This record gives sequence, C-alpha cells and structure tokens, in this order.
Amino acid sequence: MSVVVLISGRGSNMQAILEAGIPVSAVISNKADAAGLAVAARHGVATGVVEHRRFATREAFDAELAAEIDRHSPRLVALAGFMRVLTPAFVARYAGRLVNIHPSLLPEFPGLDTHARAQAAGVKRHGCTVHFVTAELDHGPIIAQASVPVLPGDTPATLAARVLQQEHQLYPRAIRWFLDGELVIEGNQVRVKGNHAHVVDSDRA
Ligand code: GRF
Repeated sequence: MSVVVLISGRGSNMQAILEAGIPVSAVISNKADAAGLAVAARHGVATGVVEHRRFATREAFDAELAAEIDRHSPRLVALAGFMRVLTPAFVARYAGRLVNIHPSLLPEFPGLDTHARAQAAGVKRHGCTVHFVTAELDHGPIIAQASVPVLPGDTPATLAARVLQQEHQLYPRAIRWFLDGELVIEGNQVRVKGNHAHVVDSDRA
C-alpha cells in the first residue's frame, strides 16, 4: 500500500505528502546533497541515493534506480521534483503506477521554466498538474489540476510560490485517490470515481 517518492532537491512536495499521512516507505534521490533527504530522515522515512553521475548511460542508471525502488515493493512511485528524464523501459515497468507533479496547467508549458514562460505568454491563469507518467515527457493522463491567478507585478518567483502552495494540497490528494483505488485510466484520460473535484481554481473554490 505504500509509496516510494523520488526527489532531486528541496523536497517540499515530498514533505507535504508525508505530512498528509500518506504511507511512504522510502525517499530516493539522484543527488546525494538533495535537501529533502534530511527532511525525510527527520520523518523517520528510509532514504536512498542513486547518483546518476556514476552511470555511463540512462539505461544503467534507471536499472539501478528500479532495483532500489523495488526493494520496497511500492504500490505507487511518485516523482516530486525529480529532475531526470526516465527511459521508456523504466516508464513501462511502472506503467499505471508512476505519477508526477508538473508546475503548469498541462498541456500548456511542458518542460522547464514554466513560471517564466507562463508570464511571458501573458496567460491570466497558471497552476499545476498531477499526471500519470508515460514515455512522452509531461504528456501522460491528467489526474488533477489546480489553478491560480497570474497577478500584476508577479515575478516568476512570486508566481512559483503561489503555484507551490497549490501543489502541496493537490499532490497528496491525488495520491490518496490512487491508493484508495479511485482512479481509472481510460486511454489518455483519467476518470476519478466518487465526487471529487479534480480541477481546483484556488481563488474560486
Ligand atoms: C515543484 O514545483 C514541482 O512541481 C516541480 O519541481 C518542483 C519541486 O519542488 N516538478 P520540491 O522539490 O517539491 O520542493
């Protein structure tokens, strides 16, 4: 019933997952100095490091990462600020039980620097998306989204902070739905059973 969380840095989403009471059996980072590792340890959660730098190929790194994950036999693998592109073989191995949080309203702004790009594009609303991971980066079936307004005077940093607050609410909620068996993948869509709001407008709730 447990979750393995993969991080690369700060780990604030991972912390929100832990503090929401989601059963996490391990937190694994591709960077030994990821700040989130100490946070996980403080919460009494097992931590692991698989440094991508030590591997000659993506395939070799992903194989070792999978071995480390599988030691915990998780029901779900949650990417939380995990900054590595995963190989098709890795994605296939965890098909239907690998999720990610992305800081934009997908399909808008896949990839990096989403907050600056959203601002430059002049959008009125921005936000975050929890989705199943498929081979195409940031394109898997969407589970839930939360939106925030883009305000006059925003910088990428102020906008990121507003979105991050929503991430911390949205990700644990979506993971809980998964663990409760409430998500059904139908093609490239996700049906959420029950009466859950899977699109949240933060200022209009
Ligand atoms: C978050 O904005 C997440 O959406 C993105 O990377 C950031 C990670 O932040 N994928 P944290 O490590 O969870 O604090």
